[in-house]
Amino acid sequence: MASASRSFARALRTAAPSLRTPSTRTARFVAPTQAVRQQWRRGYASGNQESNEKYEGNPTGLIFGATALVVGAVGYATYTQKPEWFGQAAKAKGPFTPKYEDYQKVYDAVAKELAEKDEYDDGSYGPVLLRLAWHASGTYDKETNTGGSNGATMRFAPEGDHGANAGLKAARDFLEPIKQQFPWISYSDLWILSGVCAIQEMQGPKIPYRPGRADRDLSFCTPDGRLPDASKDQSHIRAIFGRMGFNDQEMVALSGAHALGRCHTDRSGYDGPWTFSPTTMTNDYYKLLLEEKWAWKKWNGPKQFEDVKTKSLMMLPTDLALIKDKSFRTHVERYANDNEVFFKEFSDAVLRLFELGVPFAQAEDQRWTFKSSFD
Ligand code: HEM
Repeated sequence: MASASRSFARALRTAAPSLRTPSTRTARFVAPTQAVRQQWRRGYASGNQESNEKYEGNPTGLIFGATALVVGAVGYATYTQKPEWFGQAAKAKGPFTPKYEDYQKVYDAVAKELAEKDEYDDGSYGPVLLRLAWHASGTYDKETNTGGSNGATMRFAPEGDHGANAGLKAARDFLEPIKQQFPWISYSDLWILSGVCAIQEMQGPKIPYRPGRADRDLSFCTPDGRLPDASKDQSHIRAIFGRMGFNDQEMVALSGAHALGRCHTDRSGYDGPWTFSPTTMTNDYYKLLLEEKWAWKKWNGPKQFEDVKTKSLMMLPTDLALIKDKSFRTHVERYANDNEVFFKEFSDAVLRLFELGVPFAQAEDQRWTFKSSFD
């Protein structure tokens, strides 16, 4: 039922702009038509006047009037046959400039696929889509202004093969049919839009969005080692996220994404989810960090923590660093105590992450907020 009403709402939303289109187009297209018709009528009328006035004794007026009539008629015929020769009509036939409504359609297509392909992992591609958007953005280096989501260079072997990106092919493959459906969107904009969609569809906060990323070739691939290594401590977290320009508070807010998804032994080598609801965005990651007892997992895999009580949840060494470090811990406590504060600060930090290094044409106060399936 819920999904049926969501689809209905989506259908209405997507129908609305196209229903509006004819009247908008009519207003724009009527004006030049009338102008030309008026010109034509003027030419005809003045020709008539001239012919009436000058007919007696002076044939020049008649010739002038007849010429005006012919020119007017030819002009009108040309306009109706070749409207693109007249400015306005040419504009309508020019290159397609996607608008908010078009990006909302892409959002809706991703959301629909997310809802339909629920056999994957814990029931959603949402977490891996978010990880793709984060890994595309998290290569940014503020000193050299290189890396970041502008370029989608993870499509190419050097970057796609970096150990940190293992498993993200699943997300890129998921998005390929959507790219085919909307060929005008760049991979770079699509990956980030899908990250936004994943967060919102997993009931997270709204993430305002701007398009403007262009795909670049493999010469823009970033060197290996720019993404965080989960086996390290707080100084590594500060080094990696500091390079992108983030402060302590933002680092902790961004880490709350680990409320979602899981580790896979065939990707990172680590194993298991961080929370009991890995496809719903909550502040549970912080609550569990503080409230559960965490012990080293006894296994042959990389060093990770498991919760003592159920042994079904996991934490990475970098996750535990957030409660060992005093400054980080104050933010973990703030977010554990207040989901609203977490959502607000997570949204702000993710928005910044997704925009790192992108030369936008669209102003900061012109960002768009997409409607989710829950609106
Ligand atoms: C110190 C920083 C971070 C480290 C060391 C880290 C490490 C990891 C690792 C090892 C995995 C498991 C990958 C796999 O085996 O499939 C993972 C998954 C994930 N990470 Fe992070 N991460 C960090 C920060 C972030 C940030 C900032 C975000 C987003 C804003 C994020 C979002 C995710 C998500 C959603 C998953 C789940 C993917 C899935 O279920 O397939 N992570 N991360």
